[in-house]
Amino acid sequence: MYRWTNPLPGIALTVPVERYTSQAFHDLEVEVVWKHVWQMACRVEDILDAGDFVKYDIADVSVLVVRQRDGSIKAHRNICLHRGRTLKEADGKADSFQCPFHGITWDLDGSLKAMPCKWDFPQVGEEWPLIPVQVDTWGGFVFINLDPEAGPLADFLGDLPKHFETWPLEKRYKQVHVGKVLRCNWKLAQEAFMESWHVVATHAQLLPGIGDTITKYDAWGNFSRTLTPNGIPSPHLRWEPTEQEMMDALTDRNLDQAPVVIVPDGATTRGTMSDNRRKHLEKDLGVEVAQSLSDAEMCDSMPYTLFPNLHPWGSYNRTCYRFRPYGNDPGMSIFECMILSPFEGDTPPRGAELQMVDLDTSWTTVPALGLLARVFDQDDANLPHVQKGLESGSLDEVTFADYQETKIRHFHMVLEQWLA
Ligand code: FES
Ligand SMILES: [Fe+2]
Repeated sequence: MYRWTNPLPGIALTVPVERYTSQAFHDLEVEVVWKHVWQMACRVEDILDAGDFVKYDIADVSVLVVRQRDGSIKAHRNICLHRGRTLKEADGKADSFQCPFHGITWDLDGSLKAMPCKWDFPQVGEEWPLIPVQVDTWGGFVFINLDPEAGPLADFLGDLPKHFETWPLEKRYKQVHVGKVLRCNWKLAQEAFMESWHVVATHAQLLPGIGDTITKYDAWGNFSRTLTPNGIPSPHLRWEPTEQEMMDALTDRNLDQAPVVIVPDGATTRGTMSDNRRKHLEKDLGVEVAQSLSDAEMCDSMPYTLFPNLHPWGSYNRTCYRFRPYGNDPGMSIFECMILSPFEGDTPPRGAELQMVDLDTSWTTVPALGLLARVFDQDDANLPHVQKGLESGSLDEVTFADYQETKIRHFHMVLEQWLA
């Protein structure tokens, strides 16, 4: 097998199983990581107009991310300062935030607006703002940080924005947003999307068209990247597919079905796929930009991972994932897939509402996911069984591949830095 240079020589090849199973480890992660790290809360197009707000939950903390009347974005903890009732139970639009319990009301910017029986609270002054949460944006994503002392988002992102300079994520809008609760730890769920070599067993139908084990993996600062070539056969394959067979594999053609995309005589899968995709992008990007994109940008898979849990794909692939703990249960998580599409003009269309797939229900119930749905079902089929295996107490450690699991090892390296 071809080996790229290992970006993480000497970094741990195993991690303790308790990272995926123990309540104490989850609690530590919440205190040390989630309460201090920049994390993606929503997209800017989710809160286009003044008063639009998104309720973002992480573990047992809830945050309201709110579009202000001046167009800026602010965030507050979603909790009443009186006796602690959550102010909102879902996303929405508001002129102010009135607590349903006794009616104390805060303005969009978090300042105290109205208070029944104010005379009875000698300890409360004129100012009694909601607990502020830091907020900043990059690439059309709204990030929050619960720690008022945390350094700027730009420092946390490092060079990541440079990688996306030619594929500006702020020029996309969330066309589709689908989520599902999974019966596994949030790290275990995202790690299933951080290496390409599980294709050999989990997505074997793709082998004729994917260079799974010749993937390049890189890691820098708080982020990492996969580069998987498509439109070439897997080194695992014991037969030589035609160009059409490679295309069929990538487009999930069924045996009894006509080709989804025809590769013309003498053409290649990569060439055909690239031409089609460039053509498709012309409307939103303009002919010049669309036609300047390389075949690699059109064909290959380049999922990035920003610590701790955001996975935007590079180039004009529209896929983006987010993984979070589900409440405080170390054995459950929420996986979301967003389809971020380019748009014409300067203002993005409103972001799609989150559509949840029921627990233990197929992703194929969401037609908007297209080919991704079947692939997700295959990934999903492993996850509860991995969690069960880890919870059985039979292993002390999880073992990682030295190179092909670089992204996962990098994640744990960064996690360890936070825990230290
Ligand atoms: S708990 Fe919110 S007003 Fe009393
Ligand atoms: Fe997968």
